[in-house]
Amino acid sequence: MTQDDMKKAAAEAALEFVPRGGVIGVGTGSTANHFIDCLATVKGRLDGAVASSVATAERLKRHGIPVMDLNEVGALALYVDGADEATPHRALIKGGGGALTREKIVAAASRSFVCIADEGKLVDVLGRFPLPIEVIPMARGFVAREIVALGGEPVLRQGFQTDNGNIILDVHGLKILDPVALEERLNNITGVVTNGLFARRGADILLLGTPQGVRRLP
Ligand code: A5P
Repeated sequence: MTQDDMKKAAAEAALEFVPRGGVIGVGTGSTANHFIDCLATVKGRLDGAVASSVATAERLKRHGIPVMDLNEVGALALYVDGADEATPHRALIKGGGGALTREKIVAAASRSFVCIADEGKLVDVLGRFPLPIEVIPMARGFVAREIVALGGEPVLRQGFQTDNGNIILDVHGLKILDPVALEERLNNITGVVTNGLFARRGADILLLGTPQGVRRLP
């Protein structure tokens, strides 16, 4: 079974959480793309979806799923998205695709967050995957120095601009033992839009594709 097969299996398993009626939030990335393709098979159930990126909005529309503005729909029943790393406590690193800020907004506005991933994303301690941080371009040098002071090694994601017109610093070398504290600390650096730690609002349910089937936590 390939990593992509495991992503697909997790995405299919998330369908059972899709409510009848209403609007759900949809994440970004290859696993979320599998979920969108699955969602298309039950699209009659939904009034529409809120997208966490331009790419996701385009894929939803291609499948004929109405894309809605978060400001028009209020609280969402469900958010489904992938992750770059996840702990058994369901704290996450996200933002490998650079969509972390809109992902965090949609996750925050959702009553339930189901995270879908292949089993290779499960770790005991977050930080082997470089932590993405979205930064206002003029603050790049200042934010980078603050991160170095915290023990991280920031690397500018070359040639990349977020959907919000900002840059991404990928921070290497962190061993994140207290994700909630680090998430808050990094977000307090002036010029940081947000960081890819989803710990204050982690996933409620983690669905991991494995060769033996889909594992659910908790
Ligand atoms: C997008 O910005 C990310 O948060 C993705 O959710 C994350 O990178 C997982 O991507 P894959 O599903 O492609 O592994």
